[in-house]
Amino acid sequence: MRIFSGIQPTGVLHLGNYFGAIKQWVDLQKGNECIYCIVDYHALTNEDMVPEEMRQARESLAMDLLACGIDPNKSILFVQSDVPEHTELCWILGCVTSFGDLTRMTQFKQKAKEQEFVNAGLFYYPVLQAADILLYLADHVPVGEDQLQHLELSRRIARRFNYRFGELFPEPQPILSKGARIMSLADPTRKMSKSYGPEHYIGLMEAEDSIYRKVRSAVTDMGLQPGQDMSPGVANLFLLLELVAPADLVEDFRVRHKAGKLLYKDLKETLFKYLVEFLSPIRERRRELEARGEIKEILAAGAAKARKIAREVIREARERVGLS
Ligand code: TYM
Repeated sequence: MRIFSGIQPTGVLHLGNYFGAIKQWVDLQKGNECIYCIVDYHALTNEDMVPEEMRQARESLAMDLLACGIDPNKSILFVQSDVPEHTELCWILGCVTSFGDLTRMTQFKQKAKEQEFVNAGLFYYPVLQAADILLYLADHVPVGEDQLQHLELSRRIARRFNYRFGELFPEPQPILSKGARIMSLADPTRKMSKSYGPEHYIGLMEAEDSIYRKVRSAVTDMGLQPGQDMSPGVANLFLLLELVAPADLVEDFRVRHKAGKLLYKDLKETLFKYLVEFLSPIRERRRELEARGEIKEILAAGAAKARKIAREVIREARERVGLS
């Protein structure tokens, strides 16, 4: 399989990113051709992004990804704006994208509602995402659940292009993991996300006392909806525990919960302990990477490899539509 996925350099990598996407990125490196992209053009749609932060965040995220286990000898890791073919294909694909489809993107509608000035990049965001994937003729895309609608649109765009100009692009399929939807600990009805503020995410490199505070104050008492045996907050804590702790321990906690004998304080303390244990080797590797300082070279080499593929595909796409 050819795998492609992307992540925005927006400052911190959080548990939602890790369990929703990055863990799969790492696992998929075995036996597949993987291309992973730091999507700085997408991050530019964020009104709060300042130039200095952008410059710094891309390399910092790249080091985070390597610390998580992305291996530049196995995968291509690069920065989107180092490969200008992304924006060129974006324009071509925009011309086979339905305006109506773009107006129906829930992420766009949500973001547009939350801000006063809505830049056009935000509207065009999903076309650029389709271009990212199709530029490498990727057939599988490991993502969290929040990206499913964008991927569905990528498939529609591929189909429309193929129909008009002849078969070129595969229709990319999502790969979802168990952690495809990690919720905010402070408000478990919303996904874990940086955009809601610091209480709503746990960063992989965050200070332990801050993680402790967030886990201990996680909301658990929201009450049950019909058909639920756990409130959303408790279910989220169990999901996280499952992702970091041994299966028999989680099973024991489930039994205690069912019997009404589980103290949430115990659940939280245990989750904190396993989270810290789980994060510690990642943090250690991150420190080493920072000290080694080779990240610029790694990203430049990644961009050169990505560009080799991108050039071929863009050449073919230009020919198909009659631009060359
Ligand atoms: P981004 O940068 O918001 O998030 C990166 C990845 O993390 C996943 N994710 C989550 N998974 C589970 N629970 C959560 N709370 C959670 N929060 C984030 C996202 O689903 C994503 O997989 N549009 C993309 C970036 C992108 C892209 C692409 C992805 C640009 N081009 C091409 C795939 C293919 C985004 O904003 O991801």
